[in-house]
Amino acid sequence: MQYSHLGSVIPIANQKGGVGKTTTSINLAASLAALDKRVLLIDLDPQGNASTGLGIDKDDADNTTYDLLMGTCALEDCVMETSCEGLFIVPANGDLVGADLAMANMPKRELLLNQVLNQYKGEHFHFVLIDCPPTLNLLTINALSAASKILITLQTEFYAMEGLTQMHDAIRHVRANLNENLSIDGILLTLVDRRNTLDRQVEKEVRAYYGSQVYETVIPRNVRLAEAPSHGIPIIHYSVQATGSVAYLSMAQEMLERESIERS
Ligand SMILES: Nc1ncnc2c1ncn2[C@@H]1O[C@H](COP(=O)(O)OP(=O)(O)O)[C@@H](O)[C@H]1O
Ligand SMILES: [Mg+2]
Repeated sequence: MQYSHLGSVIPIANQKGGVGKTTTSINLAASLAALDKRVLLIDLDPQGNASTGLGIDKDDADNTTYDLLMGTCALEDCVMETSCEGLFIVPANGDLVGADLAMANMPKRELLLNQVLNQYKGEHFHFVLIDCPPTLNLLTINALSAASKILITLQTEFYAMEGLTQMHDAIRHVRANLNENLSIDGILLTLVDRRNTLDRQVEKEVRAYYGSQVYETVIPRNVRLAEAPSHGIPIIHYSVQATGSVAYLSMAQEMLERESIERS
């Protein structure tokens, strides 16, 4: 999908929980903003962890992703500033739990987010990242249907590859019925501990199978990444020297390089 006032729209998805989607959404978004891009993060998870992790009091927010999907407010009116220059967010709270059910009977229910992005006429964003919930529900299908490309986070654990099959089935379904141009931006390995034999084996297998789709950068297990959200800031503003901080900055650079290769 392409939009007149928006650059790449990239959901961060995996139907498993705890594989680094939200951590990646926050820290990739902040790293891209630090590299002078204007970035919007849409929190599409009813848990609202991306919102709290960026210091937003989600119960205080006037307009949330729920209002956006219900069509009661335009994207322009849902965008909030964060403490990071160039990084904006559409926050989510518990209201979003009801969205799946509320959307079920709406016309074009898979394309509600796509319509909202199409109608946006505000200031240009280079990137719109979407933090997806840990299920392949109507919310995630909306994200995939609105996307230019998808970023999959994958934890290097024993069942990692099995989980990817379901994700690929969903992508195939969306391509066939809703968004024929949906491509895969890449697979990002998260929570990696290369001292661990299993982690190294899984990384080798995933790279052998998925080749250049897999980001060269891997995100190491780093306690600073788990601590930063309780301060409401991304890791680059919490502990810039931490391995997690260096990794997300390098990943953002790799993403920008991939974009410029695509365009050339
Ligand atoms: N690279 C990492 N190092 C250490 N802890 C991490 C890392 N990535 C995520 N975590 C922690 O693991 C948990 C799950 O991560 P999260 O990003 O919320 O996953 P998801 O959004 O896929 O459910 C969180 O407590 C988070 O702080
Ligand atoms: Mg999450």
